[in-house]
Amino acid sequence: MGDNISYCYIGSLSYCLIVNSEKKLMIIGSICEDKATEKRISVTPDNVKKFISNGFKVYLEKNYGNHLDIDDEKFSENGAEFFDDKGEIIKNSDILLQLNLPNEKDLKNLSPNKNLIGVFDPTKNKDQILKLSEKNINVFSLELLPRITRAQSMDILSSQANLAGYKAVVDAFAFFNKAIPMMMTAAGTIPAAKVLVVGAGVAGLQAIATAKRMGAIVFATDVRMASKEQVESLGGKFLIVEGSENLETSGGYAKEASAEFKKKQEDLLTETLKKIDIVICTALIPGKKAPVIIKGDMIKVMPKGSVIYDLAASQGGNTEFTKADEIVETNGVKILGDSNLLNKLPISASNLYSKNLLNFVINLYDKKNSKININLEDEIIKKTLVK
Ligand code: NAI
Repeated sequence: MGDNISYCYIGSLSYCLIVNSEKKLMIIGSICEDKATEKRISVTPDNVKKFISNGFKVYLEKNYGNHLDIDDEKFSENGAEFFDDKGEIIKNSDILLQLNLPNEKDLKNLSPNKNLIGVFDPTKNKDQILKLSEKNINVFSLELLPRITRAQSMDILSSQANLAGYKAVVDAFAFFNKAIPMMMTAAGTIPAAKVLVVGAGVAGLQAIATAKRMGAIVFATDVRMASKEQVESLGGKFLIVEGSENLETSGGYAKEASAEFKKKQEDLLTETLKKIDIVICTALIPGKKAPVIIKGDMIKVMPKGSVIYDLAASQGGNTEFTKADEIVETNGVKILGDSNLLNKLPISASNLYSKNLLNFVINLYDKKNSKININLEDEIIKKTLVK
């Protein structure tokens, strides 16, 4: 659009030039995900308001949040504009905010110099993302954010893992046929349930906190020694694999364990599992299949009626038997795991995800000049831009 210029007639000979210096507003767009597999949304009504107050327009696809009981009016009351034709949104948006990578047909409507932001699994979707960057489209994938203090408000891995850790405990407890806290009654004492959390990252720490809050006795283990203090500060008991070296990368992630470590871990866990009622598995190694930590022989020693919730299910699972979206029963032990657990609390997950996106966009946006500033000296931008 640029500056709008208009003329007004004042007298017989004079005109005045009115220069309306209103700047073209940048457009944030978002289209519906495949609602059968993804219930979360990228833009919430609250964040529409925030985007607009930061100088954006917001374009959304019709029925954007109706599966979450959020009517289009809730968004439009805050200033969002709705379109029946998602192609129009994709064509006109300067920034398209999504969760998953849209399909190829939709992506054809995206023109050069536009920006696509989401969680796109760049290893799996390498070819599609390459085609987009060849077209000069900037693709930002937020699971690549550096784990630095400045990026915390944008950290989608943390916000989603936190909720997943909580929900895994709630779901596992729902399948357990006994009470969780210790109860002393006139009719006798019920012992507290014993929970083991494998992997004490963001999800694991939230699982520990949730299980403790509900009265369980909690044990945890991790290959990163830094997590020992965090586990203990939440009231958990940290299980140290004897003689283990610290398997932490400089980025704070876990390294793949050696065969010797795995054997020691197996012995320690086999002994521990004899008295454990519920296991929450969260162990992941970025970019790799999840390590198989709980083997068949280890499940055999667990008390019948025990429950394992495997948060690593979508990446192959931490147990030998995990099947995503199925309840597998072996030796009287139930193993649960969802391919997208966040679909079970999509409103909370969307609220956090959408706020993460808002913070990421604000960091990317040069408000004064109303443009996107791809400053490759900013570690947050450099690391998330997929090339
Ligand atoms: P993750 O989801 O990649 O892995 C989960 C946990 O499993 C990790 O603690 C990992 O060490 C552990 N694990 C992996 N293999 C294992 C095995 N064989 N046995 C036992 N445990 C195993 O981890 P998450 O939650 O994404 O955290 C990764 C790192 O990022 C941590 O160091 C965390 O403190 C750090 N972080 C930093 C943030 C910041 O400063 N902005 C925000 C969030 C996390």
